[in-house]
This record gives sequence, structure tokens and C-alpha cells, in this order.
Amino acid sequence: MKSDQEKIVVTYALPYANGQLHLGHSLGFIETDIFIRSLKLFRKEALFICASDMHGTPIEVKAKEAGIDPEKFAEQFSKSQQSDLKDLLVEFDNFHKTHSKENKGLAELFFKTLKEKKLIYLKETEQMYDSQANQFLPDRFVKGTCPKCGGEDQYGDACEKCGATYNPTELKTPYSVLTKTKPILKKSTHYYFKLKEMSPKITSWLKNDKTIQPEIRNFIEGWLKEGLQDWCISRDAPYFGFEIPESKKEAGAIKYFYVWLDAPIGYISSTKNYCDKQSGKKKSSWEDYWMNGSVYHFIGKDIIYFHYLFWPAMLMAMNIPVPKITTHGFITVNGQKMSKSRGTFFTLKDFLSIYSAESLRFYYANHLDRKVVDIDFNFSDFQAVTNNVLVANIGNFCYRTLVFANKNYGKITQVTEEKSLQRKIEKHLKSIKEHYSNQNFKDAVKLILQIADEGNSYFQKAEPWKNPEMKQDEVGFCVNLARTLSIILQPILPSFSEKVQGSLSGKSKKSLYWDDIVFNWKGTVKKPELLMSKVEVPLETPVFPLLIKSGKIVEVKDHPNADSLYVMTVDIGNEKRQVVAGLKKHFTVKELVGKKALFLVNLKKAKIRGEMSEAMTLVAEDKDHKITLLEVDSNLGSNACFEEMNPPELSSEVSFEDFVKIKMAVKDGRVNFDGKNLQVDGRDVVVKVKDGSKIC
Ligand code: 2FM
Ligand code: ZN
Repeated sequence: MKSDQEKIVVTYALPYANGQLHLGHSLGFIETDIFIRSLKLFRKEALFICASDMHGTPIEVKAKEAGIDPEKFAEQFSKSQQSDLKDLLVEFDNFHKTHSKENKGLAELFFKTLKEKKLIYLKETEQMYDSQANQFLPDRFVKGTCPKCGGEDQYGDACEKCGATYNPTELKTPYSVLTKTKPILKKSTHYYFKLKEMSPKITSWLKNDKTIQPEIRNFIEGWLKEGLQDWCISRDAPYFGFEIPESKKEAGAIKYFYVWLDAPIGYISSTKNYCDKQSGKKKSSWEDYWMNGSVYHFIGKDIIYFHYLFWPAMLMAMNIPVPKITTHGFITVNGQKMSKSRGTFFTLKDFLSIYSAESLRFYYANHLDRKVVDIDFNFSDFQAVTNNVLVANIGNFCYRTLVFANKNYGKITQVTEEKSLQRKIEKHLKSIKEHYSNQNFKDAVKLILQIADEGNSYFQKAEPWKNPEMKQDEVGFCVNLARTLSIILQPILPSFSEKVQGSLSGKSKKSLYWDDIVFNWKGTVKKPELLMSKVEVPLETPVFPLLIKSGKIVEVKDHPNADSLYVMTVDIGNEKRQVVAGLKKHFTVKELVGKKALFLVNLKKAKIRGEMSEAMTLVAEDKDHKITLLEVDSNLGSNACFEEMNPPELSSEVSFEDFVKIKMAVKDGRVNFDGKNLQVDGRDVVVKVKDGSKIC
């Protein structure tokens, strides 16, 4: 039977342990953390459960590249991610990993049970195989030309240019990302889960779960209408994952569970790991949470297919209740998609080395209301919200009240009763509690700010500085308001709360609960620590003055008036430009046409011997004056920029004199400037020329 004391588990999507967390990850973790902290504040028995997602091809490949065992590789990232999340003030009850004994046991249990229920079958398929690397190629490891729009260099599963999805076998001119060779088709037998058979159950779940967000509901309805396909749940070696028992016998070779099979099971196995570690009377089991309690998942919109189809289907087949799920949108930075080449990519570590976690938590809380929309992290907005709202309104009221009370009284022994104001605030409190419970943090913040406003004007009107002795009861009322704010803001600003509560009596460090809110608290007031600080330094990476783009040479003609020059047409993504280049001594027309290379596109346009040149071809020149193009394998029009730097605006022109002052040279086969490597589409630009060659 469910009671108030039902056991609750809250999860956030298990991050892959193969890189650093970035600003994009912070949104969901913060949203989830605010929710779980609010549950705890209402004295619910709730756990925040997470884990590192350790399996899959990218981890396998990256670990191999780094020459480390995949488990060790993942452990390192797991540790550093956990430390970043701690700095973000995200507090877990348990953070486990999918490469664990609990997860292996549960994944095998799921598999065995589904097999017994005849929901899993074997099927032979044809897959792309790299015969040089001796392995099957997952979708992302095959690239080629989009079968729909002809976009070049697209991944095997979807085209980033036109959005089409397809099978890697449909790509034109496919090649293996591993060896750049043409893959062959090879047969392999795989395990499939009968997702199609689960359609009626999914349909009825969709009908009954009223908490599914409307935007998501539309998606699921669309998928169901199109008809569901059975789901391949196994992968071939090499794969970092759990071996499927009996697979060698049944499928002719060892197969591994596909990462998306055991990843969500990780939610349960981390709960199990938590429960197994407890002892005494309170010891519970994962079933207490998952079978008889409530589970809330929070995820990003990129992984809805897995969480609203595969995972519910597996759970239903296992007779485990389907959790409630909340999906959030993406983060854009200053209106742009987060991207390394645009300079709008920030790791959490870098961000937190400049700004406080609480200013980010407050900024997000201000935007979050359970709608599946993207949230723009706009720097000037962030600065304004932090400085003018968080610091000037909330921080200022609490700080000045506590400092004044401490300095003038040290102890509050009398408090005015402000009946009508209290009634107003109590009404707000009731709504704030509801907003927290509905994950509508944005509206909770609005009302909290109104309470802080009331406090500020009350203090201002009371003018206690004019006659402190006479005003202890009014200041006492303000101290009560500051205390209330520290309680109701605890989910969003845990450290601020702790500081405010630490200055009041401070018998224990345990934080207060929602039901501790009163208007007549009396006690000692210690001098508070600084509660929060302003944002000053803008969030900016240095701007590199040259705008370098990848482009494709589509046409090369002789210059009508100059023997050593070519007039080329270069496609730089959105536009084509005419480029006059002195390359005739070094390359034939044939050697140039079709090449993808780097071009300087913000150099002042100029007529060269009567022909307009609208960009400059960048080359590496060695000591013997041998010239090499900076060839790249990237999307047309992508910006190339040095690590940790931003490209300039297209409109910011540079002169040739400016250009020659910027010394770029080849070091370790990379284009280097000031110790940093030139990158495009997140990868280093590689040039096979002698070190020390100049870029000109
Ligand atoms: O997209 C991701 O980052 C996955 N690692 C999320 C997994 S969520 C759950 F299923 F484990
Ligand atoms: Zn396309």
C-alpha cells in the first residue's frame, strides 16, 4: 500500500564515462537535483540515484586509442565527473557504474526472463564490416554521402545536413572511419527484442500516464503510428560490455549486450548497490523502490526513444512499473548550438573555475518549468540575473538583515507579528510548494522573489538604522523572513541556505525542513559568511582574429593576366567564393579540383591583377619552399579555430599586414599557434609536413 512514506527514487540519465561533463550536462543534473532536494525538504523518503554509463563502442575505441584498459579509462572519467558534479552542488545518495556486478546480474536476469517469455529471438543480418580492422562497424563508424541530399561525409545513421535517417548500407561511397577503407557486407546473427509485440502495452501506458509531457506524447504517438520495429540488443566484438550468456553457442560467436540494454538497468542496479550497502532496521531492497514505491527519471530530449519505448517495454515485460519521466531541452550558448568550433563549448570544470554553481543553478531554475524547450545560456542575461536578482534582491536582504541583527542585538528575543503580511506570504508558500512538486521551478522562483521583495521593503520602511534599540521586533521579523527564504531556497541554493541557517543559533549543521517555517523564531544571530557574489568577468574565450573555414575547390582556371596564378571557385558551405591563388607552380588543376582544405575568409577582399579574390588558400610552406594544402576531412563551412579560442565574426575583416603578423607553424604534425592546435569539427587539423613549416 502506498503511504506518505512511500520510497522514492529519482534518477538523471547516466552520463557516459568517456569525456568531461559540459554546460549541457549541467542543466539536467541541476533540474533533477532541485527536484530531489525539494522532496527531501518535504520530508519524503527519496534517493538520488545515478551511475556512470561505461559500455559501448566509443569508450572501447577511445580507450584503445589511449592505450588503456576500457574499465580503467571509464573509471578515470567517472571520478572526474563526480567531482565536477559535487562542485555543482549536485548531491547523490548513490553514484555507481554500469560495469558492475549488480548490473551484470540484473542485465542477465532481464535477458533470461524476456527470453523465457519468448520476447527475444535470433536473426541473421548483413552488416558493414571493416576487413582491414577485422571488425563490424557500428553506425557512427561508417561515413559517406547522404543518399537523400548528397551531403558529403555524413554518419551512417543520419544526415546532419538534411536530417534524413537511413541505414549505413544506404550511404553512397561509404568508408570506415577506422581505416578509411570501403567496408564490405558481412553476415552476423543477433538477438532481437520484440518491441513490436509490446505496442499495445505501450499504447495503454501512454493513455494512462498523465504525467507524460505533451510534446513527448506527440512523438510517441507518431512512432506508434508508423509502427515499431523490433530492437537489436546485441553487438559484435570488440565491444566493451557484458558477454551474453550462451551467445557463442546460440549465435555462433560471442555477442555483447548493446549498451542501451544494460544502461537503464543501471538505474536499478545502482539502487540495489545502495540498498545492499545499508544495514540495520532501515535496510530496504531495490524492489521496495521500484515495485512498491515511485521512480522519477529525468533525461535530455536526445534520448527519448530509449526512455519512452525500449525501457518501458522491457520494464513492462518484467512486470516492473514504468517510472514517471521528465524530459528537458538542450542548452544553447548565446543563442548558438554548443560547439567547440564556435567557441560556445564550456566544460563544467572551466565554467565552475570562473562562476559559482549557485548562480548557474539559480539561472536554470529561473527557466525551468517542465516544458521541453531549449534554454539559452545568454551571458549578459546570466550576469543580470545573478547581479540584479540573486545578489541584489535575495542575497542583499538576507545579508543586511543578519548583519544588522548580529551587530545590534546578537540575539533576537522579540518578534513583531505582521498578520496580514504573514497571510500573504503563507499563501505564496503554499503555491511554491506546489510548484516544486510539479517541477515548475520557474514559478516557484517568481514567488520566492516576491517574498524577498516584501522583506526588502519592510526593512527599508522600518528604518531600523535610525533607532536600533526600538526596532528589534521588526528586525526580528526580517530575520524570520531570511530564515524562511533559506528554507524555501534550499533546493536551488543549498550553500546559501546552509550559510544563512549556520548564522542562526546553529545547534546542529542539519538543515531545516519545510515544516520548520515559522514567523516567530527567536535565538542567537551570528555574523553570516558572505552569502553570494556578483558575476564580473564575461564568459568569453579569447577571439582569434582570423576566420578560417573549410571549403571545397570546385573549379580551377588559369588567371587571364598572370602566369603563376589560378582563379578558383571554392564552396565554403553557404556560399561560393572566387579565390586567386599562386599555386600554379605547385599543383596541377587536377590536383586541386575536389580538394577540401582550409581558407582564410575574413581577409579584406582585393583585386589581384584584375580578378577579385574573396578568400585566401592557407598552405604550409617548409624550409625548401615546398607547399602543402591544409587538407581537412570536415563539413563544408565549418570554422577552424585554435583550442580554447573563439573564431571572429564574419564581418570583422583583417588586412594582409595583420595576417602576416600572426605566426602559425606546424608542430607535431598539427597547425599550432601559441601552443594551441588548430581544430575543425572538434578534431585537430593534421598536416603531414616537416615540423617548423610556416602557415601562409
Ligand atoms: O546519452 C547518454 O549520455 C547515455 N549515457 C544515457 C544513458 S541513460 C540510462 F539509460 F542509463
Ligand atoms: Zn542529407
